[in-house]
Amino acid sequence: MRFTNKVALITGGASGIGRATAIRFAREGARVAVFDVDAVGLDRTLEEIKQQGSDGMAGVCDVADIDAVNTNIDRALDRFGTVDILFNNVGVADPFRRGIEDVTLEDFDRVLTVNVRSMFIMSRRAVGIMKEKRSGRIINNASVCAYLPVRGGIAYATSKGAVVSFTKSLAAECCRFGINVNAIAPGAIETPAFRRASEQLYPGNPEKRKLLIELDHPVRRIASAEEVAGVVAFLASTDASFMTATVVHVDGGVTGICNTISQNADELASSLESIRKYSAQRKEK
Ligand SMILES: NC(=O)c1ccc[n+]([C@@H]2O[C@H](COP(=O)([O-])OP(=O)(O)OC[C@H]3O[C@@H](n4cnc5c(N)ncnc54)[C@H](O)[C@@H]3O)[C@@H](O)[C@H]2O)c1
Repeated sequence: MRFTNKVALITGGASGIGRATAIRFAREGARVAVFDVDAVGLDRTLEEIKQQGSDGMAGVCDVADIDAVNTNIDRALDRFGTVDILFNNVGVADPFRRGIEDVTLEDFDRVLTVNVRSMFIMSRRAVGIMKEKRSGRIINNASVCAYLPVRGGIAYATSKGAVVSFTKSLAAECCRFGINVNAIAPGAIETPAFRRASEQLYPGNPEKRKLLIELDHPVRRIASAEEVAGVVAFLASTDASFMTATVVHVDGGVTGICNTISQNADELASSLESIRKYSAQRKEK
């Protein structure tokens, strides 16, 4: 139980990676406050936190709204007394495949506001609390899109680049207070957001997008939200006590391997062959 007596705060905790992490923290002993706009989803997460034998609190709010965030952090402090771990997980995307001329100013502002402004608001408040006790962990959810060019998704990629820069600068500022700040950069993860985007891109055939993205990942699969939660839990734990200002890629090798230039023609040919075989098998199914 790595998080006994610890209090974790997670944004976007009603679904996907946020929910899986809330459950993981609870299973390891943390009390967990989850913030999200989705009240019904938060109730489900709270239920699961309780099933792990822990205590939780739901803050129904838009995490880019400073007043709503402050009110809910005050509620969490009244309930649990402190915050030891902050997971800035919330994120939304602009409609995929749109070129820059088709992205509206509203789309762009919404993505930057939800993905970046919320992280600033949440972290500013959390740092105040963590500084006093000279310990804390902040983990931010970036994406491989911060590292790999994305055709169609300009606002999302921009916001995730900002998450990485924010992480490093905040880490530099906070290391003398015992606060470690790190980020994760996930590849494709099977979550409701991933499924929604797949349906939007291939109406009636979302499996097609999954297949294409599996092929993009050198390990030829996408991950579960629980696999990401395990890495967040590691970064939040004392096992990661000497880590700050890092970005951990949870991406099946996409950023580490895909951009290599193969010096070995046989290896390249065998990779191409396995992609062809894999595609044929999927078509047969
Ligand atoms: N799923 C992936 O393939 C993937 C890959 C890389 C990075 N990520 C990142 O992981 C994070 C979580 O993604 P997910 O796939 O679990 O998404 P998800 O849609 O399943 O969950 C996101 C949650 O955030 C909530 N939310 C959205 N806007 C909000 C707001 N303004 N205030 C409060 N709550 C809000 C939603 O209601 C939802 O419950 C995001 O930052 C995303 O960019 C996801």
